[in-house]
Order: sequence, then structure tokens, then C-alpha cells
Amino acid sequence: MKKKLVYSIFALAFLISAFLMFFYGQQTFYVKKETSTTEPKYDYHFVLIPEEEDNEYWRQVEKGARDAAEKQGVYLEYIGPKRANLNDHVRVFDKEIAGKVDGIMVQGLSNEAFTPLINKAVEKGTSIITIDTDLPESRRDVYVGTDNYMAGFMAGKAFIEDTKGEQMVGIVIGRNDAIHQQLRVEGFKEAVKNELRIKIVGMKESNISKTGAVQATYDLLKENPNITAFYGTSALDGVGIAQVIRTMRPYSDPYVITFDTLPETIQLLEAEEIDAIVVQHPYEMGYTAVNMLVEIKKGNHPEKIQHTPTSIIRKNDLNQFLQEHIQENNK
Ligand code: BGC
Repeated sequence: MKKKLVYSIFALAFLISAFLMFFYGQQTFYVKKETSTTEPKYDYHFVLIPEEEDNEYWRQVEKGARDAAEKQGVYLEYIGPKRANLNDHVRVFDKEIAGKVDGIMVQGLSNEAFTPLINKAVEKGTSIITIDTDLPESRRDVYVGTDNYMAGFMAGKAFIEDTKGEQMVGIVIGRNDAIHQQLRVEGFKEAVKNELRIKIVGMKESNISKTGAVQATYDLLKENPNITAFYGTSALDGVGIAQVIRTMRPYSDPYVITFDTLPETIQLLEAEEIDAIVVQHPYEMGYTAVNMLVEIKKGNHPEKIQHTPTSIIRKNDLNQFLQEHIQENNK
């Protein structure tokens, strides 16, 4: 009888401690899964691949794309090379194709490197928009961006209008291997080809960076000290050109025409260190590209080529330009 009582006490103690162990153990280690009802749901997953992630021009494209994505219920990823580089660019693009997203916005920088990838993506059902730089030979769905040849041509015409007498031009090109940069140079050359007073004396690559533009300008001036004008074909070239002139040739006043209205370039136009800017609309490119991808995904067939506007501004046009620019960014 006594034995039975002892056993029962032990059994009870065992049961109580087992229960306590289980109860507190569960409280300590069990992490309840949060089933949030507020998690946003997206209709599509798109990727925007910039030429260089932290480039100010591409941040403007991104802003436009994000604004449109928010309105359209799109999950947008922005991912690209840290520094402009063809191999890294292709690697990011290939990885995103493998990820089977709904749509990708990418530059068509070179036929050789990008056409096979664009075609592969389209075959897999990923819609492709070439943005900023087109590859018309590829199977991309739509191009959204500047008519780069025409932009170069307009730069050449502006240069003719703004200058007199003999001119020796040094060109700072963003990248020798990029189609849009080549088109900007070709357009410029075509515009000035019958002006015998204008000669292009040299061309150097900036690799789309400010330090690269500084080096390119320095080298151009060293090899051609008689340069009277500069033409920069990508967004940070004007800033680099102006910096070298300020330090190396402070008493000279060469004519400078360059691309893109980044804040620093606008300041230099105001300060008369830059004479004219070819205006592109990166915000609008991003905004329109996302909207076009949504159209394609809904089964519609938007226009294949959608050129964003291009214009030339000089110091006199600044006030009006800034007003319009603010409106565009507050869409
Ligand atoms: C071009 C972009 C380029 C950027 C570089 C712009 O003018 O349109 O393709 O990435 O310059 O800063």
C-alpha cells in the first residue's frame, strides 16, 4: 500500500514536471509565424538594370520607374553593376533572366553581348524593354528612350549655331563600345560635316565617370593644345570637362556642349562654364517603361519605338526648363 502511494507520488511529480517542461519549453522556443494581412500583393515583378547603380542619371530613371510601379501594383527591383562594366552588366542581366521575372528593362548596349540574351529572355516569356539605348535587331518588345542619333545631330546643329570661325573639337565619349554613345558621335559628325571651319581633332573615353572625364579631357588637351570646343556624350562628361578647363586653362573659354541635366551640370550652365546641354528625360523613361511592360503583360501591343523628347538648352532657357522639370518629377 505504502509502495503504491510512493509510486503514485512519483508518477504525479513526473507528469507535472513533464507538463511544465513542455509548456515553458514551447513558450521559449516556439516562434509563432506572423500571418500578416497587410503584406502587399503584387501583380508583376519587373527588374530595372542600370548601367551603373549609383549613377545620378540612373537614379532618375529609377525614380520614374518606382513612381509608375507604385501606381500599377508592380514589384520593382533595381539592380546593376556597381561600376559601368560590360561583363558585370551581362552577368546581372543573365541572372535576372534565370530568375524568371515578368519583365526586364535594360540598355541594348552592344549587339554581340545583349541580343542573344534579350532573345533568350523573350523566348522564356520575360518581356523586355530596351531603355535609354535600343537594339532594334533584337526581339525586344519595346524601346523607350532618346533617339540617340538625333540627339547627337541636334548637338552638332547647336554647336554650329553658337560658334563662329575655325573650331577644333575634342570629344569625350562615355564608352567606345556602347551603341548609344557611338550614335551620339555619328549624329554630331553628320551635322557638322559640311562646315569646313569645324574639325574634330580627337576623342577619348570617360567610362561614364567624372574622374574618367577629367582624365579624358586632360589627355585631349595634352595631345591637341589647340582645342577650342568640347563635346561630352554622357551625363558626367560635362562636369569633368569643366573641371579640367578651370584648373588647366583658367583664362581660356572653350565652347562646351554636353549631355544631361544633372544638378551639377545645370550649375555649370548657370555659371557659364558649360554653354549648352542636350536634355534627355530619364525620369520619363523609367515611368513609361514600367507602364509599357504592364501593357505588354495585359496582352496589349504598344508602339515598338517610344522616343522620349530631346532638346537643347542654354543659359537663357534655364528658368523655363527648371519649372517644367519640377512638374515632370511631381507627376
Ligand atoms: C546616358 C546613359 C549613361 C549615362 C552615364 C547618359 O547620357 O544616356 O546611358 O549611363 O549618361 O552617366
